[in-house]
Amino acid sequence: VEPYAALVLGPALLLALLGPRWWDRLLARRGKEHWDSYEALAADYLEALQGMPTLRATGAVGRVRERLERRSAALHRTTVAKLRVSLVDTGLTDLAVQGGTAAAVLVACSSAATGRTAATGTYLLLLLASECFRPVRDLSREWHAGYLGVSAADGITGLRTAEAAVPDRGTVAADWASAPEIRFEDVRFTHPGSGRPALDGVSFTAAAGRTTAVVGPSGAGKSTLLSLLLRQRDPDRGSLTVAGTATAAYTLASLRRGIAVVSQDTYLFHATIAENLRIARPAATDEQLRAAARTAGIDQEIARLPDGYATLVGERGATLSGGQRQRLALARALLADAPVLILDEATSAVDERGQARIVRELAAAGRGRTCVVVAHRLDAVRHADHIVVLDAGRVAATGDHTTLLAGGGVYASLVAAGRTAQEERAA
Ligand SMILES: Nc1ncnc2c1ncn2[C@@H]1O[C@H](COP(=O)(O)OP(=O)(O)OP(=O)(O)O)[C@@H](O)[C@H]1O
Ligand SMILES: [Mg+2]
Repeated sequence: VEPYAALVLGPALLLALLGPRWWDRLLARRGKEHWDSYEALAADYLEALQGMPTLRATGAVGRVRERLERRSAALHRTTVAKLRVSLVDTGLTDLAVQGGTAAAVLVACSSAATGRTAATGTYLLLLLASECFRPVRDLSREWHAGYLGVSAADGITGLRTAEAAVPDRGTVAADWASAPEIRFEDVRFTHPGSGRPALDGVSFTAAAGRTTAVVGPSGAGKSTLLSLLLRQRDPDRGSLTVAGTATAAYTLASLRRGIAVVSQDTYLFHATIAENLRIARPAATDEQLRAAARTAGIDQEIARLPDGYATLVGERGATLSGGQRQRLALARALLADAPVLILDEATSAVDERGQARIVRELAAAGRGRTCVVVAHRLDAVRHADHIVVLDAGRVAATGDHTTLLAGGGVYASLVAAGRTAQEERAA
């Protein structure tokens, strides 16, 4: 229609497409800064809300508020910095788009004035000049709209390519017909980033269908031992077998289904009591729920709640007392009805009378299961079939209550310390 129009439209198009590419690297850097400060603020904010009672109790609310304010000011700064670059970017594209269109209009006017094109030609030229920039405008809009996603992509890639702490390459299904034997042999494990092994040369056997207690001072490695059994981590050295097969040879899901656990810090979900219990066993009947709660010594307390088993427990079980939360977690583990039961300080927050009763009930319920019990209060473990004393990551002694007491050492000192504490309480 008008070859001269191509001379102005072509360069304008190229400028609109390629001009902003000069800024790409700067925009990517600003985008990442923006995203990082966004993430930092979000994480801090969530932590501050969750830890509010602690912050209030320690008088740290003001300091945390200042930190949040600093972080949100940083977010403001990075947002504006990013906006500035992307505005220049948009400005350049728009300049090329509008300038190109205006130049094409001038060309159309001049060729109409000189009579080189007819009226339809001029009309066509004007129409096409604005149309040829439409894809560029669309592209530019989508590019800016999607920029937050581009900035977040690195983090998402990191997540997608992250390696699990333990590989799930086992093929054996852990459906033990009866309670299995658990055997630790010369197990050594160092937490990632820690200089000192948490477990070093640990060997012992938890007999099938029996209760084995693991005791020892705080930081001795008891919880670490249990996390290896659940395969949250694999040992650096040595072997760990359940029913004669290495834990790594089992499929992860079946291994964990075969082991019920009450961990040292229990977690309850924002749901009803019944729903929290049924996480372990969705098909459990009401009667089974009640039986598990009875063994854990919490049945009557639940019955006294206004909505009974349908009572909502709040976030992380906030509406229950510490001891109630713990017994609920215990009931949940009992309901799972797995052949292996692991209790890490499962009754530490229960009063002494309650504990004695729960220990009796547990002993009855645990019959036919392999139980591994960790407890600081030795009354909870003195009746165990076998006691393993752990000290600084090593097995200091094994035996039962009487032989260990007679042997002196760490166990006897733990018992003596427990007795002194009891006498002091009595006095
Ligand atoms: N995730 C971790 N990263 C690094 N070190 C850890 C980690 N968890 C535990 N540790 C260290 O490993 C050692 C053993 O910890 P573990 O939790 O097994 O002790 P514990 O015997 O269960 O103590 P407690 O009786 O207080 O619960 C401690 O020195 C602890 O600091
Ligand atoms: Mg522990």
